[in-house]
Amino acid sequence: MITSTIHLAETILKNDGVIGFPTETVYGLAGSAYSNKAIQSIFQLKNRPHNNPLIVHIGSVHQLEGIVREIPPKANVLINQFWPGPLTLLLKKSSKISDFVTAGQDTVAIRMPNHPLALELLNKIDFPLVAPSANPYQSISPTTANHVESYFGAKIPLILDGGPCNKGLESTIVGFEGDQVIVYRLGALTIEDLESIVGKVQLKNNNHELVKLPGMAKKHYSPKTPLLCSSFIRNDIQKYVSKKIAVVYFDDLDGLESNKGIDYFSFQGDLQYASANLYGFLHDLDSRNYDLIIIEKFPDLDLGKTLNDRLERASIKN
Ligand code: TXA
Ligand code: MG
Repeated sequence: MITSTIHLAETILKNDGVIGFPTETVYGLAGSAYSNKAIQSIFQLKNRPHNNPLIVHIGSVHQLEGIVREIPPKANVLINQFWPGPLTLLLKKSSKISDFVTAGQDTVAIRMPNHPLALELLNKIDFPLVAPSANPYQSISPTTANHVESYFGAKIPLILDGGPCNKGLESTIVGFEGDQVIVYRLGALTIEDLESIVGKVQLKNNNHELVKLPGMAKKHYSPKTPLLCSSFIRNDIQKYVSKKIAVVYFDDLDGLESNKGIDYFSFQGDLQYASANLYGFLHDLDSRNYDLIIIEKFPDLDLGKTLNDRLERASIKN
């Protein structure tokens, strides 16, 4: 059932159930962070390996007490600046957070989503929610209630519909080593935004040796249709011109002749528009039986860095 009222959602969550849950980044598959039953259901529904930890969602800063053992000074600065918002912090966990949530790690990932319905729900219940993105392991994250429905259908009792996600990319994940701020996943909050508040940050986004961070797995966010992230889009179109292809370019392709069998889409040169719509485009194009989707590489700044990161992971073949 898809609904936009929270009453039934509260009841389901209090009874160890799992629901589809809107946030400003992507939809989550949410359950009580204190319910081992809900946590197990989430791993099972997503077919997610148990060594891949979950993000805990809270509705107000004071909920941090009890969940974490300490808050580094720079974490406080970031919380004041960016919560609620698309920023997840890795903080030392207290014993209230089970090892099932953190996959045995000493840190717990926490964020406060900036979505009115999510905040309303989180502030009505007296426990935090764990919520990974509401997609099967390695597939494209959902940005509408319908995406969640098409993935899980009757396997979950309720999807809370908060409209299309306005950020459309997952949260940025940040940890702390001494005074150093470390970015483990590029996301909807840009490096430029972070650095304007805490100075230079360190990027460990591509450290694939960190088995401790399985969410950084190279293959991720993938459509079923082969996807090519292209730096030379005109050349690549020519290479595959005999196939049925979808071409998504960032800005304008001046003077491009229309070719039979090729559909063109544009992000109109707007990084925010591209971020809000990339996953929606991929969901849609994936259902239209193309032989190949070619997406032009984004400019390497601001949200373009995150968009390129997702495209690279999505376009790696098995
Ligand atoms: O925007 C988001 O963050 C969305 C919405 C629903 O909040 N959630 C989301 O969750 O993207 P998920 O589970 O799809 O991705 C969470 C990532 C995973 O890559 C996981 O490995 C990493 O966070 N993670 C979670 N806890 C961690 C921890 N304690 N240490 C390191 N990485 C952690
Ligand atoms: Mg995910």
